[in-house]
Amino acid sequence: MRTRTTYCGLVGEEFLNQEVVLHGWVQSQRNFGNLIFVDLRDREGIVQLVFNQDTDADIFQVASKLKSEYVVEVQGTVMARDEAAINPDMKTGKIEVIVKDLVVLNKAETLPFEISDNNTASEDLKLKYRYLDLRRPEMQNAIKTRAAITRAVHSYYDNNGYLNIETPNLTSSTPEGARDYLVPSRVYPGSFYALPQSPQLFKQLLMSAGFDKYYQIARCFRDEDLRGDRQPEFTQIDVETTFLSDVEIQTETEGLLKKVMKDVKGIDVQTPFPRLKWQDAMDKYGSDKPDVRFDMQIQDITEIVQDSDFKPFSEAVEAGQYVRAIVVNNAAPKYSRKALDEQQQYIERYGAKSLLWAKYAGDKLSGASAKGLLPYQEALVERLNLMDDDLILIVAGNFQVVCDSLGYLRTHFAKEMDMIDKSQFAFTWVVDWPLFEYDEGFGKWIAAHHPFTRPRDEDIPLLDTDPHKAHAISYDIILNGYELGGGSLRIFDPEVQEKMLSVLGVAPEVAQERFGHLLNAMKFGFPPSGGLAIGLDRFAMLLASRDNIRDVIAFPKNSRATEPMTNAPSEVTPEQLEELGIEVSPQKKD
Ligand code: AMO
Repeated sequence: MRTRTTYCGLVGEEFLNQEVVLHGWVQSQRNFGNLIFVDLRDREGIVQLVFNQDTDADIFQVASKLKSEYVVEVQGTVMARDEAAINPDMKTGKIEVIVKDLVVLNKAETLPFEISDNNTASEDLKLKYRYLDLRRPEMQNAIKTRAAITRAVHSYYDNNGYLNIETPNLTSSTPEGARDYLVPSRVYPGSFYALPQSPQLFKQLLMSAGFDKYYQIARCFRDEDLRGDRQPEFTQIDVETTFLSDVEIQTETEGLLKKVMKDVKGIDVQTPFPRLKWQDAMDKYGSDKPDVRFDMQIQDITEIVQDSDFKPFSEAVEAGQYVRAIVVNNAAPKYSRKALDEQQQYIERYGAKSLLWAKYAGDKLSGASAKGLLPYQEALVERLNLMDDDLILIVAGNFQVVCDSLGYLRTHFAKEMDMIDKSQFAFTWVVDWPLFEYDEGFGKWIAAHHPFTRPRDEDIPLLDTDPHKAHAISYDIILNGYELGGGSLRIFDPEVQEKMLSVLGVAPEVAQERFGHLLNAMKFGFPPSGGLAIGLDRFAMLLASRDNIRDVIAFPKNSRATEPMTNAPSEVTPEQLEELGIEVSPQKKD
């Protein structure tokens, strides 16, 4: 094989009249009788090859047999295209390569789908042949975006005094709240390693060891329900430091995000990023990860309707709940009663009883809930700043129901009304979180971040009296409505740590068994530390303008947590099970 001169997609005018050697895949072949044009593709793009029967009949013969995805080596001369043949949409559109020599390195059978960004093959077929799907330019760009982010991350942290330290993947359970993936031990049958949900405890121990500033691009594993922004196996940009305040950690993180945005997207983002208190984020946007690229803030109208005898309002007021609204500008003429009533089913998922709505036009309220609103029209026009053709959406219920429902409606209508500037990258910190949150699923209080999150100093006494009122020194970094990352200052006082675990209902023996290594470390000169972790997959997805993190992971799982290409997870042989001392119950197998 000859040495490649450059990539196909990089053959520019600087190579004019020079000889080049190129390697790549045949994207397409067009035969015009005595001329054949071939588009040759590699990771940098496409270049046009020209074969001329009159100049070299033998090579022309070989070229006439080329098919899609054959792998070839060519040697030829770079020539300027005729004016009329210039393709302004192609990076290499001003030149072509007149081929003198062609070697077919390998043939390809007919592919299960075309290598094109427009192919409509099913997701599972594409995942089964992931190595083919990854050949598409869109996918190559997504994976390159991810690589560009990791390059910037290493450069930033390496240049700012952070040490890149690896932590184990075969470990014991880590406390991020999801189910663990377990790995059976052959040496100790009946015992299991857990794959880390994050390097949380290890990074705190690295701080105890005195490394001061740690970072790692770490693989994490969580067995939880999958969504577009969740995979069972994902990657964190994981960071921990000692002796820094929450604001200092946020500032260092802003430095990283600024560099990534510049290096990867060429965009200058302004720092410091806005900081929203958790309570304000919930009140104004109905979400702890608000998309602030559009306004449409939630307004409280409980006070205005407090004397109403309209049942949805009076019931909420009597129960001490809330009546809150959003206003969608110019939406009134666009939505029929039927279309609005259809939204009802979506907010029912969040526990809302009904979607109350009205339209404001010609200085008058009309629509399904106008009856309940008309007595307060004047006050509502003023409070909600109503304008002609506004659509008013109202939900009554408890805090969580009202926030979740209006948070959903806010984003839904912003998308439908095309109110989101997709070219914008809006970073926001959400700070001052509650230390605990109530988990309806588990029916108990859980740590809002994780059990090692430090309460605000002034709230430490609340751990004894009214723990659920305590706030944490924790922070999430939000990008365009996604939780990009989260972190906190950590508890470093063993007594506070024990109290925290006891509020979470973790008995001392259980605490010793699960986190004994951390609790012990706290006895031997344990420094105050803090850090955060950013989801690399989510960051890459947003910067590559994709809407599923699968697209920025080379070999992801599908939405059922399986991998169609390798067929993982798969059954193992009876001998392997025997060796591990494991028996699979027949019911579980079905
Ligand atoms: P947390 O659990 O918030 O914090 O995770 C940090 C970030 O990791 C990403 N993430 C995921 N990405 C894809 N798929 C998943 N299943 C998934 N789960 C989480 C998110 C999230 O913001 N140890 C703490 C960090 C710390 O306190 O320093 C932690 O893991 O982008």
